[in-house]
Amino acid sequence: PLGPREIEIAVKAVGVNFKNVMVALGQIPDTSLGQECSGVVTAVGTEISPQDFSVGDHAFRNFARGNKSSVYKIPETMTFATAATIPVTFATAYYSLFHLARLAADESVLIHAAAGGVGQAAIQLAKTRTSASNIFVTVSSDEKRSLLIEQYGILETHIFSSRHKSFVQGIKRMTSGRGVDVVLNSLAGDFLKESLGCVAPLGRFIEIGKKDIYLRSDISLSRFLRSISFLSVDLGVIVRECEPLMEEIITQAMRVYLHGTMQPAQPLTAFKGSQIEEAFRFLQNGRSSGKSVIEFGSDDKIPVVPSSKPTWGFDPNATYVIAGGSGGLGRSVARWMAARNAKHILLLSRSGTTSEAVQSLITELTELGTLVAAPSCDVSDEKALKSVLEEYAATLPPIKSRIQGSMVLRDGLFEAMSHDDFHAVLKPKVQGTWNLHHLLPRYMDFFLILSSTGGVFGSRGQSNYAAASTYQDAFAKYRVGLGEKCVSLDLGLMLAVGFAAERQHITEKLVSAGYEGIHEIEFHALLDYFCDPGRPIDDADTVQTVTGVAVPASLNARGLGDIFWMSKPLFGGLRQMDRQTIISDKNPENKIDYRALFEQAPTDEAAGTIITKALTKKLSTALNMPVTDIEPEKPVYAYGVDSLVAVEVRYWFLKEFKAQVAVFEILRSESIAKLSLFVASKAQLRHVKMDAS
Ligand SMILES: NC(=O)c1ccc[n+]([C@@H]2O[C@H](COP(=O)([O-])OP(=O)(O)OC[C@H]3O[C@@H](n4cnc5c(N)ncnc54)[C@H](OP(=O)(O)O)[C@@H]3O)[C@@H](O)[C@H]2O)c1
Repeated sequence: PLGPREIEIAVKAVGVNFKNVMVALGQIPDTSLGQECSGVVTAVGTEISPQDFSVGDHAFRNFARGNKSSVYKIPETMTFATAATIPVTFATAYYSLFHLARLAADESVLIHAAAGGVGQAAIQLAKTRTSASNIFVTVSSDEKRSLLIEQYGILETHIFSSRHKSFVQGIKRMTSGRGVDVVLNSLAGDFLKESLGCVAPLGRFIEIGKKDIYLRSDISLSRFLRSISFLSVDLGVIVRECEPLMEEIITQAMRVYLHGTMQPAQPLTAFKGSQIEEAFRFLQNGRSSGKSVIEFGSDDKIPVVPSSKPTWGFDPNATYVIAGGSGGLGRSVARWMAARNAKHILLLSRSGTTSEAVQSLITELTELGTLVAAPSCDVSDEKALKSVLEEYAATLPPIKSRIQGSMVLRDGLFEAMSHDDFHAVLKPKVQGTWNLHHLLPRYMDFFLILSSTGGVFGSRGQSNYAAASTYQDAFAKYRVGLGEKCVSLDLGLMLAVGFAAERQHITEKLVSAGYEGIHEIEFHALLDYFCDPGRPIDDADTVQTVTGVAVPASLNARGLGDIFWMSKPLFGGLRQMDRQTIISDKNPENKIDYRALFEQAPTDEAAGTIITKALTKKLSTALNMPVTDIEPEKPVYAYGVDSLVAVEVRYWFLKEFKAQVAVFEILRSESIAKLSLFVASKAQLRHVKMDAS
């Protein structure tokens, strides 16, 4: 519900700035975006008086779901786009120059990056206190220099470059060596340090950039011999820590804005809600001036990426059972559980702690503070399971959940299969699943069964395994019918971990049978989803979830179009997807799965060529230029790739190819082709796969 002093606004426009770009790129530890917005008031809290705000008022605020302190009523004549450019820029400039710096009449000020939103607001506010001859600025281009001369009458002799440290000599020259009384700084690194040298004795240095603060950069205290002050500004902290101050800043800044002859930062560049990426790219290249806003219309289509980070963790005071826990996937599950704060794990398998893999898992997880008990236990043996559970009930906390991944394989043609072989495979999956169901406590947080797609599509030579898997699928539905949680997760081929990954011939067989490998990270993402204790009991749509099978479109692309199961009527829906994919995306370039091609590349050179193509496409999107304009023989910096784009490319290399590459390696690479080759040589994605094969 709306708090008593809160105001709700239907957002029409949002101001965006360079800090938002830094947040989006993970450069500063913050998650908030779109702090300044304008729109129409849709609800007000009980303590808000109608004189202040009522439904239908036009207003801006500078933080999400605003408290009254950060919301300001705007005149009906002001557009929402204009209003969205004002709160952060004017409030920051007002607080910096008037509250912190206490800029007095005839004092001098140096405003860095003055063609930006805050810079232009600061120029206008400074002019209300001091003369034009006392205002010095820096800008990064001739275009911005002209803008400040034309719009604000800044003297040509008072404008310096923000890209060159010569501004220090310029300021010294213009002030007869004294420096300025106030510096409003948004430059980073050495430029910040040089700017400190521009401050006159008793002067104030106001830091509005965040980079050096987050980087914990050092400043020599000798700078302060002239009795100068260093003050930092973060409106977010003011909102959190001192609401009345925020209200005062906003009110005073707006009063000056509305009653003076102020204007919003020029030019105002407006993007639609569907162009959020373009807006960020525009700011990212650092060439923009003025202010950018995103206007939201009711028809805007906004792409969203669901959050991949789980918001839950395991209960440290509970025990989690992994049947088949000594196996490849069982051990992977145990590590994943420990990483999610599980402190007690009961691994059940017939071999107990005899394998080296289990012993080193126990050592590893014990060091992380997770106790792993791994008794020898055949889960298909009711008595044995019961006695192990009773034994550990005395020493471990109550069991909250279980994962069933026990499996035995005895492949062979059905006609030649012995009764023993058939039953050996059924036992852990059929009797084992049933025993875990009825011997463990009721109402668990989850009961996840690691079943197999073999039960759905069939698997040659594995009729016993397919039968056992269909039992698990049916069992999950039965258990959900009892009002108990359960999911049967039908996995296809697992890469890097598990039975198949440890045996190259099986991986090859499954790949040629149309399976698309599931990476461990994807497996963990499935676990994140299905083991979430907050999930409700599954329904018919998810109680049996099939994953890791290629759709016909990708099978066709791999020349496996006539795979044995595809013609069955049951999979008609998948064949239909093929057609939809073709209809919805006519550009063949967009259908290329570079990651898959990369994985299958026979040599590092071939893999490098694939990365070159993918990287060219990535750069064309990031830099907003046609693919055909990007030549692989040229270095990335030739196309204007700066450190921010390089950070994005770095994350992309990690995500797509599992390659750790430093930003400087990207920026200093001789050519796109050589960079790609370098990435191919470092990419874990391919090397793990090659090691497994
Ligand atoms: N790996 C894949 O590609 C893949 C694909 C699809 C589905 N799956 C499913 O994922 C699960 C795990 O597969 P995985 O690759 O980890 O197999 P795995 O490495 O062979 O592990 C299976 C584990 O089950 C244990 N086990 C067998 N019979 C048991 C019994 N009666 N009681 C207790 N433990 C028993 C085995 O240990 P002991 O021999 O010591 O008892 C072994 O540790 C299986 O349910 C499988 O169907 C795997």
